[in-house]
Amino acid sequence: MTDLTTRYLGLYLKNPLIAASSGFTSSIEHLKSLEKNGIGAIVLKSIFEEEIINEFHDRLNSDDRFGSNIEFLDYYDYDLKEESLDKYIQLIKDAKEALSIPVIASINCVTSQEWTDFAVKLQKAGADALELNIFIMPSDTKKSGREIEEEYLKISKKINDTVSIPVAIKMSSYFSNVSEMIQNLDKTGISGLVLFNRSYSLDFDIEKMDITSSSNVLSKPEEYTLPLRWIALNSNKVNCSLAASTGIHDGKSLIKMLLAGATAVQIASVIYLHGPESINSMLTELEEWMQSKQFLNIDQFRGKLSRDEVKNPAEFERVQFMKHFSNKKM
Ligand SMILES: Cc1cc2nc3c(=O)[nH]c(=O)nc-3n(C[C@H](O)[C@H](O)[C@H](O)COP(=O)(O)O)c2cc1C
Repeated sequence: MTDLTTRYLGLYLKNPLIAASSGFTSSIEHLKSLEKNGIGAIVLKSIFEEEIINEFHDRLNSDDRFGSNIEFLDYYDYDLKEESLDKYIQLIKDAKEALSIPVIASINCVTSQEWTDFAVKLQKAGADALELNIFIMPSDTKKSGREIEEEYLKISKKINDTVSIPVAIKMSSYFSNVSEMIQNLDKTGISGLVLFNRSYSLDFDIEKMDITSSSNVLSKPEEYTLPLRWIALNSNKVNCSLAASTGIHDGKSLIKMLLAGATAVQIASVIYLHGPESINSMLTELEEWMQSKQFLNIDQFRGKLSRDEVKNPAEFERVQFMKHFSNKKM
């Protein structure tokens, strides 16, 4: 019997596949279908700090009762946050009641203000863990890269110190020294890192001469090589669990992430493209591969192709197309 169990953020998972935060994880009906198809855990759709701030500004602009009454503004701001939060708390409670797999709540934050209070409320609602999707847009040219990195570390530490449930940080790959950032985030005491978040891209409509959203919302299968490299480089260097995310569309890329040293793998686009049934086929592919290699459990091969385990670790540092490739007529 092949054992697919794994531990992620200290949580017991019946298999390493996690439904990543997306629109698919925002309704109980979809969550149930993910569980029915064998998913090991789910990350709920994020509650967005930015969205609450934007809604606050929209309401202010459309209502002239406020004037400069600061107390009223504060009350309104608080009220709006509570309203969004209440809906999210209900989603956590409903998900916990409907599912038997771990439920991870997700906060998409750009500052550490107030989220510490919110994080405590999400914990009280019954979330098994918390995932923080932090992205600070580096558009302020007066702020140094180091200052922005410090913000990430501050948010991570503050929230991790506030709650008692495990905290994972979902990070982007846009750092000058990705490995240093991974290791510094690990030092804040968090339980896990998700490599990587995939950002929303904008595009231009040349007919209307306006900004539009890109059609590139879902990942392509070839994108998995980005998390693969960074997980392989860092899986032996951190204490926290690493989950892979971006471009994992089949059993083969799931196996590769485990070989790189990931303890779990998050999927979103493949569910949109091929439905929750893709979970089942990815797990079957993993199980059949393990049987063909005579592995009884994941720990027998996890990390076998991480940087510290391979014969030629220099391959992980290679980024340029050298002569080697031109010989292959490429
Ligand atoms: C439609 C859609 C909605 C998403 N919403 C969120 C979200 O609310 N919070 C979040 O952290 N990530 C969100 N993501 C990003 C996914 O969780 C995931 O990190 C990303 O899509 C890369 O994984 P994939 O290649 O398996 O799609 C969303 C992705 C999609 C496609």
